[in-house]
Amino acid sequence: MKLCFVVGARPNFMKVAPVLAELAARRGAGGRENVEWIVVHTGQHYDTAMSDVFFRDLGMPAPDDFLNVGSDTHGRQTARVMSAFEEVCDRREPDGVVVVGDVNSTLACALVAAKRGIGVAHVEAGLRSYDRAMPEEVNRVLTDQVSDLLLTTCADAEENLAREGVERGKVRFVGNPMIDSLLRGLEMLGDEPSNLASRARAGGHATVVVTLHRPGNVDSPETLVPIIRGLQNAARRCVVLFPVHPRTAKRLAEQGMPLAELPVAADEPLAPGVYTMAPMPYLEFIRLLRDAAIVLTDSGGIQEETTVMGVPCATLRPNTERPVTVTAGTNELVPRDPGAIADAVERALEGRWKKGSIPPLWDGKASGRIVDALLEPGWIEMAKARRA
Ligand code: UD1
Repeated sequence: MKLCFVVGARPNFMKVAPVLAELAARRGAGGRENVEWIVVHTGQHYDTAMSDVFFRDLGMPAPDDFLNVGSDTHGRQTARVMSAFEEVCDRREPDGVVVVGDVNSTLACALVAAKRGIGVAHVEAGLRSYDRAMPEEVNRVLTDQVSDLLLTTCADAEENLAREGVERGKVRFVGNPMIDSLLRGLEMLGDEPSNLASRARAGGHATVVVTLHRPGNVDSPETLVPIIRGLQNAARRCVVLFPVHPRTAKRLAEQGMPLAELPVAADEPLAPGVYTMAPMPYLEFIRLLRDAAIVLTDSGGIQEETTVMGVPCATLRPNTERPVTVTAGTNELVPRDPGAIADAVERALEGRWKKGSIPPLWDGKASGRIVDALLEPGWIEMAKARRA
């Protein structure tokens, strides 16, 4: 069996890394499975800070193919991934393609594989926000429709897939591989606090971590400006740390928002305020999340990571495709207005945030279950039959 793993954008790397590590460990332990694999990086994210440092932090092998597609409109970016990936399929002849998450590269490669009778396995299948204004929702629904093996992280994902008519036999509940990376990372980091949290504590302040990149939040001043005002209100009595995604950096510059860049070299105590910085490497970032009083975000994965760490999370979106983080975890959907944002921070600083629990199978062992499922030959045979 020859498998091709696809990564394209930042949130893909931490989901694929533990699965590759599991395959390599089984081979190292003399596993008899007849499996070869390659890794293809589409280049949807290409900045060192958005891509390379993740390979390093996650101990991932360099990709076998780099497609260098870069940024563009959705249509052109998806098309470019499709045409470059089709050429990879010609040359490498994989039996199965493994895609993860919901970025444009995920859908593009799934479509190419499905039309060539190559098996498609989707890791993190079945998540739904039921908001088709999100480009990721379109990617999720369509990727699941063309997948032969659907690997889910939570019970609601299985229900969503059943509702959309996906055959039950194609679905495996395996848990959350992103949490495998998280738990491994936290273990590597040990107990020492992050430098930024230490500097804030030295000044007697808690830290609040912010990430924002959804077009629905950052592309229009009507949502971006009130969010930034909310952060500025909240920052009167704590240190707000805001690693800025490239999309958001552009929008902030367009709005002329007055955010102070963190003095990188300094190690003096931090005074209350909002500090921006470049996107962070994986390990440094999860340490910052772990040490935060609350995290404000519009990311998908961070809602899951904070739930596992028991850190309060305010998701600045009207909906989430990860409802289990709200019903079981520490996540809450918070309106994008300055008062609601400042109130959420206040409640967390005063210890008035709900305590959560960890969803089933978010146990650090999902990649073992994913590899077991991938090695069942049924999904590849199903795709081959389609080819004939
Ligand atoms: C993409 C994913 C989103 C994911 C996010 C994580 C889609 C539809 N969106 O959104 O689901 O949550 O990644 O980060 O696939 N840019 C750079 N350097 C880079 C990458 C991007 O400067 O390495 C800039 C470009 O100007 C680009 C913009 O960021 O136009 C947006 O990048 P793009 O990949 O289109 O979408 P993201 O917003 O990153």
